[in-house]
Amino acid sequence: MYSDSFAGHRQRPPVRRIKALAVRGLLALLLPALSGCESSAPPVPASPFVQGGAAFPDDWPFTTDTPPVTARGGMVATTDEYASRVGVDMLAAGGNAVDAAVATGLALAVVNPEAGNLGGGGFMMVRLADGTVHALDHREKAPMAATRDMYLDDAGNVTDRSVVGHLSAGVPGSVAGLWEAHRRFGVLPWGDVVEPAIHLARGFEVTVRFVSTLDAAQDRIRGFPASARVFLPGDAVPAIGATFAQPELAGVLVRLRDEGPDDFYRGETARLIVAEMERGDGIMTLEDLDRYEAVWRDPVSFDYRGHTVHSMPPPSSGGVTMAAIANMVERWDLAALGWNSADAVHVMAESFRRAYADRNEYLADPDFVDMPLAELTSEDYAERRAATISMDRATPSSEVRPGLETVLDESHTTHYSVVDGDGNAVAVTTSINSWFGGRVVVDGAGFFLNNTMDDFAAKPGTPNQFGLVQGERNAVAGEKRMLSAMSPTIVEGADGALLLVTGTPGGATIITTVLQTIFNVVDHGMNAVQAVHAPRVHHQHLPDQVFFEHRGLSESAVRTLRDRGHTVREREPGPPDAYFTGGMSGDVQLIMVMPDGSLAGWSDPRRGGLAVGYRE
Ligand code: DON
Repeated sequence: MYSDSFAGHRQRPPVRRIKALAVRGLLALLLPALSGCESSAPPVPASPFVQGGAAFPDDWPFTTDTPPVTARGGMVATTDEYASRVGVDMLAAGGNAVDAAVATGLALAVVNPEAGNLGGGGFMMVRLADGTVHALDHREKAPMAATRDMYLDDAGNVTDRSVVGHLSAGVPGSVAGLWEAHRRFGVLPWGDVVEPAIHLARGFEVTVRFVSTLDAAQDRIRGFPASARVFLPGDAVPAIGATFAQPELAGVLVRLRDEGPDDFYRGETARLIVAEMERGDGIMTLEDLDRYEAVWRDPVSFDYRGHTVHSMPPPSSGGVTMAAIANMVERWDLAALGWNSADAVHVMAESFRRAYADRNEYLADPDFVDMPLAELTSEDYAERRAATISMDRATPSSEVRPGLETVLDESHTTHYSVVDGDGNAVAVTTSINSWFGGRVVVDGAGFFLNNTMDDFAAKPGTPNQFGLVQGERNAVAGEKRMLSAMSPTIVEGADGALLLVTGTPGGATIITTVLQTIFNVVDHGMNAVQAVHAPRVHHQHLPDQVFFEHRGLSESAVRTLRDRGHTVREREPGPPDAYFTGGMSGDVQLIMVMPDGSLAGWSDPRRGGLAVGYRE
């Protein structure tokens, strides 16, 4: 099953052959053939973006002319080559996009422990070939014993307990979510979709992709004995090319294969999780695990220039915030303003600022708070909000209050995209929040627990680790789901047919990254590679700053934006010897349906993933 025998194209050579992102960026520039398909690369689709002469900034490391990966029988795009191959193997075995997504998610839990997970949660969007769209919430929940001020010290200041250690973990939802998606839509036997992850947990060859994040996080992981024992054997990061086996995790996966989610939520694995909690003064109990359920919710669907965008509703803030931004941005002709011109960035940043002010104030777990979702996503509201945007000057965030007139009662993530040969599409974003979550591995089970409790407002009005200043409605409470930015998204073209399947990690930047990917295609006519490669900007109301990726915005655009009163900040690159250059945001996995029905996909080179096609 793990052979190269599937027909199709690989995006680039195995990651272990490449030393660093900087090197890979250079390779991609110098040797487009290496980054493209292995054979019969099709011509790059005509793009007004390229034809118009617009270009990425001169020293931007990613290309405009690399052809995307193409295929007709299906495609899987993930942040990790192993996981993408597992997904394509499921398609080759007769599975549909949901089978492939579930197997891919479980594989990511093995090969991408910084973010792929059993100990976290996420959201899944499914669009079946019949056009029906489904949204599955398997976000973590606060343990029942969680309380509003549990992360404050005696003086009322926020501690790091929402970020590091046992108290930072919410009740994991991934296992329940993947099981439920498969139960409802899968066609392969459950055991078949779990088996590839078991195989990988018994041992896989260590890649640069695996080592890169572990290397950066090793000091923090060392603080937790079970975490260090499993992931730093011999007190060192496993060597590239060595075989890395995770027997305890393989045991959990075997029980998952044989007993379904009962083991994780009520059986041996549940007991291991609770024993770990007791060792580290955590509060999660067997009852918390037993009560966890994944929930189907109504997707947020909105129109953007004749396209229909489907994304996650609360407890994700993604769908609602993207709708609010898109409704504002639609009042300008982004293409005419020019891609990443000062005017286009200004319009986006002002729209982002306003929508995030509302997001941070109003959105939270729908099971706990009432939210005026219809009003927030309405054209009328967008018109009122957009009318306050001046093209001459930035509106300071201090002047942008949450804008509803209605009075309300107070009351390291990863993404994968899959399309199968029948046109079923799945987008999943899943997370344990920070890289390696709260750094706590469940002893005897070999997986990291999330630190997603930090996505609550530990102290309303105080920034969380992503700098998001969130309100009372997203305060901690027992059994509540914490607000998320994760936005798995599926876009239909003007003809109602499937066009894009996409998503990304990136904390608060997820929403703006997904939207810019859509703008890149819809407004600027970019192809799959260009839409992913293009540098990104971000604004989240507070801090009052326009962020741009290192070398991602022209000097003249920066100057003009500053003249208009924006505080413009370039992301800091990492140290030159790091595996990844840093200074970038997002890890987009994009699959696009071409006019002839074939698939064109691309995995973001910012972290080193791979899109793999099935059958030409
Ligand atoms: O759900 C959220 O919004 C966050 N837990 C996402 C965290 C994230 O994307 C970190 N990855 N880079």
